[in-house]
Amino acid sequence: MIRTNEIGAPPGLLKRAAMFDVQKIRQDFPILNQKVHGRPLIYLDNAATSQKPQAVIDTITRYYLEQNANIHRGVHYLSEWATRAYEESRLKAQRFLNATDAREIIFVRGATEAINLVAHSYGLKYITAGDEILISAIEHHSNIVPWQMLCQTTGAILRVAPMNDQGELLLDEYERLLGPRTKLVSLVHVSNALGSLNPIKAMVAMARRWNARVMVDGAQAAPHLAIDVQELDCDFYTFSGHKVFGPTGIGVLYGKREWLEQMPPYQGGGDMIISVSFEKTEYNHLPFKFEAGTPHIAGAIGLGAALDYVNQIGLDTIARYEHDLLAYATEAVAAIPGLRLIGTAREKAGVLGFVLDGVHAHDIGTVLDHAGIAIRAGHHCAMPVMKRLGVPATARASLAFYNTKEEIDALVQGIYKVKEMFD
Ligand code: ALA
Repeated sequence: MIRTNEIGAPPGLLKRAAMFDVQKIRQDFPILNQKVHGRPLIYLDNAATSQKPQAVIDTITRYYLEQNANIHRGVHYLSEWATRAYEESRLKAQRFLNATDAREIIFVRGATEAINLVAHSYGLKYITAGDEILISAIEHHSNIVPWQMLCQTTGAILRVAPMNDQGELLLDEYERLLGPRTKLVSLVHVSNALGSLNPIKAMVAMARRWNARVMVDGAQAAPHLAIDVQELDCDFYTFSGHKVFGPTGIGVLYGKREWLEQMPPYQGGGDMIISVSFEKTEYNHLPFKFEAGTPHIAGAIGLGAALDYVNQIGLDTIARYEHDLLAYATEAVAAIPGLRLIGTAREKAGVLGFVLDGVHAHDIGTVLDHAGIAIRAGHHCAMPVMKRLGVPATARASLAFYNTKEEIDALVQGIYKVKEMFD
């Protein structure tokens, strides 16, 4: 996390960063050790997806080489092994979020599926015409569209809490939009397009006064800071495995047990039932009620390995290192003439968005790519953010704990090269 008022005055930051051996960490990520277009790869697209440590790759490989079987079904050795490993991953996810109970952890494909699950299951049961759903101006499309779809089906009304030019939510406005009709609030923890870190705990507390449920999209928070759902007191929280150094196609939905128990299943099929007849089906207990069909077993086990890996380093250590790196990057990039940072919230994590006078973001991305530097350019699945800030697209460098100051220096050089080419 970064407080921008600390930029330029970082006493002690470099000393703290020095305690973290980034070169040793980088050896755990084989993909980083390669050339792209003849240049050493500099991977700064971590908000899109992060790279995987050898421990995760080995865990998945070993699973398919030696352990593959379906779970919760077989009586044989491999099936029991796979079931145990899958359920151990659930416990790891529980600890990662500090949830009180493993039954509150549902494996899903990712944050998008988790939000859709809550919109369908909780939403269709509890939200009716005239109710209000409150989101914010800095949401990813995945935290906008499912609620729009729910509003279309139910006649509920979607409200949007505005932001300022820095990309910070206006808390007074947010509070003003809450009221007796607010049934559900769904907020991003860290913005994927801007990096803004929302004061989720305070925002949940405000929603509580109106007895609204709160869902938090933690896809961009989980790789950068320790999450404690009990402390946040949110009703639902989600993150995606592939952004926390695990596989794609797996993610976690946390839900308070009292709600999950009352919610109907999202999908029907095998494993989510206790008994089925043509007359009546009895649904399974939590968490299986929400995990119809054969799940992404290798993904869940791989995610468990990723959470182990992240825990070994420690999210507080990661947050400190990245805070320093983002402060360094922000100062260096902001000094480039003609460059404007997009997303300058006081509290940020991981993301450095910018535009360059007279150069389209896609051209920035293409030129940087030829220098071996991977960033994302475009609207970042956050078109309303772009519209609000009056830019068609941004270039976005997004950090992980394996990035270095030298890579940031190379990014800065690369941007100067872009400027030369387009001047
Ligand atoms: N949501 C991902 C991103 O921000 C894909 O790039």
